[in-house]
Amino acid sequence: MNDPKPALTARPVISSTGLFTPAESITNEELVESFNRFVDRHNAANAEQIEAGKVEPLAHSSVEFIEKASGIRARHVMAKGPILDPEIMAPRWDERGDDELSIMAEIGVAAAREALERAGRDPKDVDAVLCAASNMQRPYPAMAIEIQQALGIDGFGFDMNVACSSATFGIQTAADYVRAGNAKSVLVVSPEITSGHLNWRDRDSHFIFGDVATAVLVEDEAIAPAAHWDILGTSLKTVFSNNIRNNFGFLNRAHPETADTPDKLFVQEGRKVFKEVVPMVAAMILEEAERLGVDPQALRRLWLHQANAGMNRLIAHKVLGHEASEDESPTVLDTYGNTSSAGSIIAFHLHSEDMVPGDTGLICSFGAGYSAGTVFVRKAA
Ligand code: COA
Repeated sequence: MNDPKPALTARPVISSTGLFTPAESITNEELVESFNRFVDRHNAANAEQIEAGKVEPLAHSSVEFIEKASGIRARHVMAKGPILDPEIMAPRWDERGDDELSIMAEIGVAAAREALERAGRDPKDVDAVLCAASNMQRPYPAMAIEIQQALGIDGFGFDMNVACSSATFGIQTAADYVRAGNAKSVLVVSPEITSGHLNWRDRDSHFIFGDVATAVLVEDEAIAPAAHWDILGTSLKTVFSNNIRNNFGFLNRAHPETADTPDKLFVQEGRKVFKEVVPMVAAMILEEAERLGVDPQALRRLWLHQANAGMNRLIAHKVLGHEASEDESPTVLDTYGNTSSAGSIIAFHLHSEDMVPGDTGLICSFGAGYSAGTVFVRKAA
C-alpha cells in the first residue's frame, strides 16, 4: 500500500485496463431459435384461452429485427445451456459456499489481474478497489472487498452502482481520490453478469445484454508506467427517469405476491431512452470539451457506451460533425452485446493500442438513472 499523503497537485492517469470475456457466446440465430420454441410452446399450452381471447398470443422474435434495431449479432454469457433451454431461460450455476470466491468476484479478479499485469503493478501497491457495476451479487460484504482480498491488496474497497455509467463514475471517483492524495493507485472493476437481470422471455429486450468484466487502473502519474493515458477531465450527470428500471431488491420480500413479476428484472421503454438520452449525452460531451479546451471535431477516437449502434452513430455525428467511421467510433456491440457499464471500457481496451502520443479520445457511458459520464483522455507515451 502506498503512503497516502495529501498531494493536491497529484495528476490522475489511466495506467492500464483489463478484460475478462466468458468463453461461451450465443449468436442471434441460436437466441431466436430458442425464444421461438418458447413462444410456440406457450401458445400451444394456452391455445384454448388464446382462441377465447383471454390470453394474448406471444409473437416470434427475429434475427433481422435484432440486427437492424440494435447492431447486436452475439453476446458472451456465463451459462449458455440454461439460457437457451426454453424450460429455464435464465443463467444457472452451482451455488458456491461462503468460503469460495463468488462468481462476480471471480470474473472481476480475472479482469483486474490483466490490468495489474499490463501496468507492471504489484497488488501490494494498490490502495483501493471500487467495484462499479449495475448489479451486485449480494448486498454485503462488498464485492469490492472480496476482490481486494483475492488480489492481496492492502487498503480499502467498496461497491458503487450507477447502472450503465458505473465504470465512468468509478473512474471519476478514483481520479478524485488520487487528486486529493487519499490514494495513488485505484482499481475500478466492473463485473457485469447482466444475463442474471435480463428477462430472456421478453421479446422487446431478450437480445440486449451480455456478460463480461473489465478493470481500469487509475493512478497518480508519479507512479504510473510511461505508456499511460492522461485524464484531461471527467464529468458526470444524472437525471431521474423510469424509462430503464429494475425493481429487484431485498424489500421485495415485503410483497411476496409480486416478488417474481417481470419488473423485478430489466425493463425499459427503448424508444424513449433512445430519443431522450442521445441529445442529453451529445450536449454533455460538447460542453465538457469546451470546458477542457478540446476541439470535439479533432477527437481521434470515441469509445462510447455500447447499447445501440444507432444511438452511437447519432452521438458520434453530433460530436465529430460528420458520420463517424468504425476507426473513429469503434463498436464491440456486435460480438459482446450491451454489457452495461463495461461496454465503453471494452471498446477502449480493444481499440486503443494503435493510438500515438498526443492523441486525444473520449470514453463515454450512459444509461439507467438516467446517468452519463465522460472521461477525456490523451495518450502520454
Ligand atoms: N423481434 C421482432 N420484432 C420485434 C422484436 C423482436 N425481438 N422486438 C420488438 N419488435 C417489434 C415491435 O413489436 C414493434 O412492432 P410494431 O412496429 O409492429 O409495433 C417493432 O419491432 C418496433 O419495436 P420497438 O420496441 O419500437 O423497437 P426499436 O426500433 O425502438 O428498437 C431497441 C428497440 C430496444 C433496440 C431500441 O429502442 C434501443 O436500443 N433503445 C435504446 C436502448 C438502450 O440504450 N437502453 C439502455 C439499456 S442500458
